[in-house]
Amino acid sequence: MLIFDTTLRDGEQTPGVSLTGEEKLQLARQLARLGVDVIEAGFPAASRGDLEAVRRIALEVEGPRICALARAREEDIRAAWEAVRYAEKPRIHVFIATSRIHLEHKLRMTREEVLARTREMVALASSLCQDVEFSPEDASRTEPGFLYEILEAAIEAGASTVNIPDTVGYALPEEFASLIRGIRKNVPGIERATISVHCHDDLGLAVANSLAGVAAGARQVECTVNGLGERAGNAALEEIVMALLVRRDLLGLSCGVKTENIARTSRMVSTITGVPVPPNKAIVGANAFAHESGVHQDGVLKERRTYEIIDPKTIGLAESKLVLGKLSGRHALKERLQGLGWRLSEEELGRVFARFKELAEKKEVTEADLEAIVADELYRPPEIYHLEQVQVVCGDRGIPTATVRLRGPSGEELVDADHGTGPVDAVYRAINRIVGESPKLIEFSIKAITGGLDAIGEVTITVEAPELAGPNGRPRHFSGQGASTDIVVASAKAYLNALNKLLAAKGGNP
Ligand code: KIV
Ligand code: ZN
Repeated sequence: MLIFDTTLRDGEQTPGVSLTGEEKLQLARQLARLGVDVIEAGFPAASRGDLEAVRRIALEVEGPRICALARAREEDIRAAWEAVRYAEKPRIHVFIATSRIHLEHKLRMTREEVLARTREMVALASSLCQDVEFSPEDASRTEPGFLYEILEAAIEAGASTVNIPDTVGYALPEEFASLIRGIRKNVPGIERATISVHCHDDLGLAVANSLAGVAAGARQVECTVNGLGERAGNAALEEIVMALLVRRDLLGLSCGVKTENIARTSRMVSTITGVPVPPNKAIVGANAFAHESGVHQDGVLKERRTYEIIDPKTIGLAESKLVLGKLSGRHALKERLQGLGWRLSEEELGRVFARFKELAEKKEVTEADLEAIVADELYRPPEIYHLEQVQVVCGDRGIPTATVRLRGPSGEELVDADHGTGPVDAVYRAINRIVGESPKLIEFSIKAITGGLDAIGEVTITVEAPELAGPNGRPRHFSGQGASTDIVVASAKAYLNALNKLLAAKGGNP
C-alpha cells in the first residue's frame, strides 16, 4: 500500500496556514523520515515561491517520490516539471474537474472538451516525466460512465496512477467502495494503473471512505498529517496507517511508514502550521491514550489490552526522555535536535541554546521541552510587537493587576498597565492598551508539556477579528502559541503571537 502525503499541498490549503519554503523543507525531511512513499510538495503554478519550495524539496529530500500538482493546462504542467525534474523520483499530478456541476459552472466546458484536454495534457506531462498521476476532480459526484471514459483516456495517454477524489467529502463508505469496484470492472487498461483514493472530511468520513476504497482495490491513499486540508481537511495519515496496522487481520495490507515517528511528525506539523491537534483526535490527540474512568484505569493496570488497542510506544509515545542537563553544550543540543528531526541554522541554534540553558537551570530538560522551545523560539510570525516583560499582582484579596513592557515596530519601548478579573485577563487588557486592538478571545487552553510542578506550560489561544472577514464572509480567526515555565508569561506570549498575525493580516507588518 502506497502512502501519498499531501500535507504540503492540500494540507497547506487549511484556512489560516501558509508555509515558507524553509518550513516546507523541514517538514518534507520529516515526512521522508516517517517513510511515506510520495510527498506532494506543492502547486508550482500557484506562485514562484511555491515553485522554488518544491524545487528545493526535489533537490534535497531523498527517499520518497516528489510530486507537484498541476491543472490540466500547459503552463501548470511546465511549472510542475520545472519544480520536480531534479528529484530522484519525480511525479506530475494533473487534475481536471469531471462532475456536471463543475463542468457547467466552473470550467464552462463540455465533456468532449474535458476529455480532449485530458488526453492532450496527460500526454504532455508523460512526455516530460515518466511518472504521471491523473485526478478527475469531484469524481464521487461524476456520472460513472463519463468517469470510466476519462480514466481510460488518461491511462492511454500515459497516466500510471489514477486518483479518485471525493473532493467535497460527499460519499458514504459503501458507495465509495462500489465506485472503486466499478472502475476496476469497467475501465479498459485499469490493470496498467494504480488506483488511488483522496477523501475529504466534510461528513467526518474521510478515513472510513479511504479504507473502503482500499478494501475495494485501491493501492494508494492520499492523506495529510493531523488530517489538515481544505475545509474540514483530508483523511488523516496517522489514522490510515494505524488502521492498516491494527486491522491487518482484515485488510491484509501493510505500508512503509515507520509508525514510531508518527507522534513526533504530528507535533512538528502542528508547531510549524500553528494548527493545534484537538485533544480527542484519534492516535495523536493528547487524550488518545488517557484513561479517565476508574473501571478503565483498573482494567488497563491489570492488562493494557483491555482498553488499549495500540501500545503508545508504537507511535513513538514513550515516557518523555530526559535528554540534556545544565552542563550539556551546544553541540550536544544540536545532535539531540537532529535526532528529533529539527535541522536549525547556527543562528536559530543559538537562540534555542540560550532558552535551553535558562530552562536547564530550573529543571531537567526532556525531548518534549526541547520541542516546545523550538516551537516558541522559531515558529512565531514576524514580530511587530515583542514581549519584553510581564509583571502581575494577584491573589484572593487584591485586584489582579498587570504591567506589560513591549518593544514596538520601530524598536521603541512601550509600557502600560491594567487590571482584570484575573492575572491573564489583566495582562491581555494591558497589551490591548499598548497595541490598540481588542480582539475577541475564542479559545484558551493550557497544557503542561511534561508532568511535575516545574513543567513548561504551553498556551494555545484563538482570537477573532470581527473587522477582518475571511473568504467565507465570517470573521477571521488567528491562533497563537506560547511556552514558558510561568503560565502567565506563556499566556502573554500566545496572545501577542496571535495579535502579531492579526496585525500582519491588517497590513501592519513593517
Ligand atoms: O480534493 C481534490 O479533488 C484535490 C485534487 C486536486 C486531487 O485535492
Ligand atoms: Zn483535496
